[in-house]
Order: sequence, then C-alpha cells, then structure tokens
Amino acid sequence: MTCFSFLFCRRDDSSKNQSFEVDEEFDVHNVKFYTYKELRTATEDFSPFNKIGEGGFGSVYKGRLKNGNIAAIKVLSAESRQGVKEFVTEIKVISEIEHENLVKLYGCCVEDNHRILVYNYLENNSLAQTLLGSGHSNIQFSWKIRSKICIGIARGLAFLHEEVKPYIVHRDIKASNILLDRDLTPKISDFGLAKLIPANMTHVSTRVAGTIGYLAPEYAIRGQLTRKADIYGFGVLLIEIVTGRCNTNTRLPVGEQYLLERTWELYERRELVALVDDLLNGDFDAEEACRYLKIGLLCTQDAPKLRPSMSSVVKMLTGEKDVNERKITKPGLISDFMDLKVQSSDKMKSEPKNTSYNTFSSSDRDNSTMSSGTSASATMTFNTLSNDQSA
Ligand SMILES: Nc1ncnc2c1ncn2[C@@H]1O[C@H](COP(=O)(O)OP(=O)(O)OP(=O)(O)O)[C@@H](O)[C@H]1O
Ligand SMILES: [Mg+2]
Repeated sequence: MTCFSFLFCRRDDSSKNQSFEVDEEFDVHNVKFYTYKELRTATEDFSPFNKIGEGGFGSVYKGRLKNGNIAAIKVLSAESRQGVKEFVTEIKVISEIEHENLVKLYGCCVEDNHRILVYNYLENNSLAQTLLGSGHSNIQFSWKIRSKICIGIARGLAFLHEEVKPYIVHRDIKASNILLDRDLTPKISDFGLAKLIPANMTHVSTRVAGTIGYLAPEYAIRGQLTRKADIYGFGVLLIEIVTGRCNTNTRLPVGEQYLLERTWELYERRELVALVDDLLNGDFDAEEACRYLKIGLLCTQDAPKLRPSMSSVVKMLTGEKDVNERKITKPGLISDFMDLKVQSSDKMKSEPKNTSYNTFSSSDRDNSTMSSGTSASATMTFNTLSNDQSA
C-alpha cells in the first residue's frame, strides 16, 4: 500500500491548484508514474517531428524513456482532465493487464493538469494504416500472417472478456486499434480507456463509444453495451482482414458498398471465396478463408445471443470447433442509418449535450470511404458509458 498523497506532496506545496485532494490511503502499487519533465525530454518537448498520430483522446508521440525503452506517449486532450483518483484507479486496472495480444501500458503522468499514458511502442503501425490504408506499407500480408493476426486479436479479446476479472468491454474494436509489433504479432490498443474520459465529453466519448461500421445494432440504436458488441466489432474486423477491404466503401457499385451485406450475399450464393483479398493472388487456404468469413458472419448476427463468445471464436478459428454446426442468419446491419437519428453538426452544436444516446451526426457520411478512421470526424452521443458490465 502506498500513500497516494505522499506521491504528490512534493509538487503540491508549490501551488494550490495542484492539490489532488486524496487524503486516504490509496493503493497505487504496480503503477509507474513518469514526471512531466521526463516525458518532455523523451519526446524532445513534444516535438511535432515525434508526433505519430492523433486520435479522439489526443496526440500520440514517439519517445525514448530514461531506461532506453521506446514508448508511445499519449497526451490526453485538455478536456479529459479527470480527477487524479479516478484516473489512477483506471490506470491501475489497465497496468495490471498483460497478454501477448494486448498493448502494454508502462505507466502514466498525472502532474498538474496533464494526463498522459505511456505505452509500449509498436513498430509496425496499425492495421488501418497498413492492411487497409491507402498509404504505402511494405508489409506483405500473406494468408499465414493474416491468420496469425486474426487468431491473435481473438485471443486478446477473449482474455479481456473472459480472463480479466471484472471483465473489460473494449467498446472500440476496429482496425486502427490493432497495432503490429516487429514480428507482426497483433496487439489490441486502447482497452480500458473509456472510463478515463468523463461521460459528458460527448465529442471524445464518440471515439470511445465505437466507430460507425463496427457498431453492433443494439448498441448503436439502443445503447446496449455488452461483450457481444465487441464481438460484433471483431466480426467486422475479421472480414476486413480476409478481404483487405474497409467495412464501408461508397466508391464501389451500389450493392457492394457495405462489406457485411456483401459477405452475406456471397454466403447465400456459396461464393464466399470470391471475397478473399485479390492481393493474395490466390495463394491462400480457401477452406480456412471461407471459414473465417463465416465466423465473421456469426459474430455479427443481429441477435447478440447468437454471437459466439470470444473463446469459442478462437476455437473456430483454429479449427478446434466446427463453425458449420451453427446456423448463420443474416447479420445485423446499421448501414441503414435511418435507424439512427441523424442530425447536422450545426444542430448538434446548438443542442444541450445530454441528448439521447442514439443521436449522431457524421461529417464523414458523404465521404467515399468510411475506413477504420471514420470516427475521426463523426460525432455521436452516447450516455451509456458507465453501462458496460451488463452482460
Ligand atoms: N503503442 C503504440 N505504438 C505505436 N503507434 C501507436 C501506439 N499507440 C498509438 N499509435 C499510433 O498513434 C495514432 C493515434 O492513435 P490513437 O489511439 O490516439 O487514435 P486512433 O486509434 O487512430 O483513433 P481513436 O482515437 O478513435 O482510437 C495511430 O495511428 C496509431 O497507429
Ligand atoms: Mg486508438
């Protein structure tokens, strides 16, 4: 047990607004705290040259820590200044989670108003930028590598859902949250972050609450957030990995724009194999690839109870369980945005923030490709953020 106020008292006496008001004994064992100065040095004063990206939570920098480790340093945006105690409580939970397929959180910085997360740096970027990105990537995603990535992601998510106690609902399974290490081992990032952001921060909570295209219908429409919503997101991602296509691409002919819809159509015609990424030039195990696509359909079934658990998914992917034993029905789709109440961005701005959870506006809706990064400009209001332990 470490006395929390002790940790900060050296800084507290210099300024009243740095008082963290944590007067009780608070167990911060296992949490590594970095000073702001150390992180500033690591990132060369948060130099734009070291900036590797920007997401809904804030900017991410690459930096070298004092111990020589290279880190991804995520500076949470100003609005996300949560109380120290709440922040550290969540950090403690995340810090204790270790799995080969989950990004390791090294620690955090909570000085003054700064809220910074320090993660293990992954060399090969995200699936959104490599496999699905329009930019350049030297990575050749062979079938073997894709299969390893699918199984790894499934294992990481099964761990969060079934091993961690209490279990964690990720809420934002998507290609940009799958990072690849030097050996192309996939690591799920951003788990446990939802609770770090105050629920009234509608803009940021959008990003936390999921990305259009990966959103399970019951979550998008009714705000029901359970592990089954993550499983839906995983199903979409699985199909993206096999096909090399983003879940939505309005540049394609009508009828082919929504990947899930297209997958269902080809499944019914028994032509799933036609969906496998052309970049593989036919060099893949067709039985396995079609099995993966069927698992993707199973994970995205409209009724949450028809979706398999993540541990079953792992077994189906590895062939220990027969996917054909289960009946596959039409997946749940929210490509029909009429199900949701769409508002213009302007209207959103003028309205109070506590609008209903199923309200969204997306300035990206008319863009030709809604990739895994769609959430970058989508604004969706969910007031169900604390509702995650319901199934
Ligand atoms: N541990 C890491 N190692 C290497 N790169 C990282 C790491 N974490 C994040 N990044 C990169 O930083 C960028 C921003 O990540 P961030 O998680 O903030 O946003 P995002 O995942 O793109 O979107 P969202 O905020 O919706 O999750 C991404 O392009 C990602 O590739
Ligand atoms: Mg992310």
